[in-house]
Amino acid sequence: MHTYLVTGGAGFIGSNYIHYMFGKYGDDIRIINVDLLTYAGNLENLKDIETKENYSFVKADICDREAISKIFKENNIDRVVHFAAESHVDRSIVDPNAFVRTNVLGTAVMLDCARSAWEKEDGSYPEEVKFLHVSTDEVYGSLPEDPDAYFYETTPYSPHSPYSASKASSDFLVKAYMDTYKFPANITNCSNNYGPYQFPEKLIPLMINNALSGKNLPVYGDGKNVRDWLFVEDHAKAIDMVCEKGKLFETYNVGGHNERQNIQIIHTILDTLREELSDDDPRKANISEDLITYVTDRKGHDRRYAIAPDKIKKDLGWYPETKFEDGIRKTIKWYFENEDWMKNVTSGDYQKYYDDMYEGR
Ligand code: NAD
Ligand code: DAU
Repeated sequence: MHTYLVTGGAGFIGSNYIHYMFGKYGDDIRIINVDLLTYAGNLENLKDIETKENYSFVKADICDREAISKIFKENNIDRVVHFAAESHVDRSIVDPNAFVRTNVLGTAVMLDCARSAWEKEDGSYPEEVKFLHVSTDEVYGSLPEDPDAYFYETTPYSPHSPYSASKASSDFLVKAYMDTYKFPANITNCSNNYGPYQFPEKLIPLMINNALSGKNLPVYGDGKNVRDWLFVEDHAKAIDMVCEKGKLFETYNVGGHNERQNIQIIHTILDTLREELSDDDPRKANISEDLITYVTDRKGHDRRYAIAPDKIKKDLGWYPETKFEDGIRKTIKWYFENEDWMKNVTSGDYQKYYDDMYEGR
């Protein structure tokens, strides 16, 4: 039985991953979720599993070496899946230091504690242990609008935002541990995720929430930046496959062939909301293309991301199973059926964040 230490498990992808893992393995795994519960961490995402005997939650900062090494000492951890990070590009433009701290220093602490717990005297490691570092395609920079240009695992790193620079630094730390200590790890670089439990600072949930409440839909620049969208459950599956079957020391790109311009995404959201909301739902009257508002562009805005998932498909048999049209419909329905979840995460500090980020833009 594997014991997983999952960092950032109360966030968007981490909570979906924990659901996926219990759905697949039931009582045959143990998961310890370590999360600081920043604005992005929400234990409501895990309400239905919190009483499971093979699940536990520890509130801790990944930069806190003492707290993290205690978790390793007290538990027989053989898998680390490292999600915890500051994840929002716009916030990184306002406050880069928070990103350096959590994403770089936090990853350094996680690597150090895992190595101390796992490395034997002769420098080798037990066969079953693995550290999976969850990273992003943004480390590769921006692609031209040429439809044949893709990110491959061999694409040189060229991060532009403080967020992607901090993730690139964390990737390099993992690579350094693999090269120097033969530390048993994999890196996954994934494209844009969407699905349930995503915090409404990110494009898709922000647009759904604003459209339902009749607020402006702020489109950065000309709205033609392209992202490669992946349903979050497909990402969870990829991470599990890399843990199970990935060759040690390898990087796998995750995503593929779901490229959409931001403005297309917004039109799809509006069309789907109109189709799915019943006629007597008062929110339906709010849904209108007139809400679309072009605003000042994001600084250093990457134009296009697109993953070539050839390696993970060929070596591990993974491919993005969920068609975008199905995934986006599921996601939109989840949000309008979980109005309370949205109300809870948008109360408190969210309004201030929103005003600071968008007012006068
Ligand atoms: P998120 O912001 O929704 O969640 C991050 C989680 O980390 C939160 O629960 C937060 O409380 C926790 N956290 C933050 N700082 C911490 C700290 N110092 N100590 C402990 N916990 C801390 O992020 P997400 O979108 O779920 O992304 C998860 C990971 O996947 C990140 O590493 C991100 O870079 C990567 N990623 C995200 C996407 C995407 O589209 N969202 C795509 C590719 C890769
Ligand atoms: O590519 C993977 C990355 O995807 C992850 O590593 C990041 O953690 C994740 O946040 C995401 O980054 P993006 O910057 O691509 O996602 P975001 O949802 O912030 O923006 C998607 C696109 O939509 C981007 O081109 C900016 C644009 N946008 C975003 C917001 C929030 C708008 O036009 N208006 C908005 O209000």
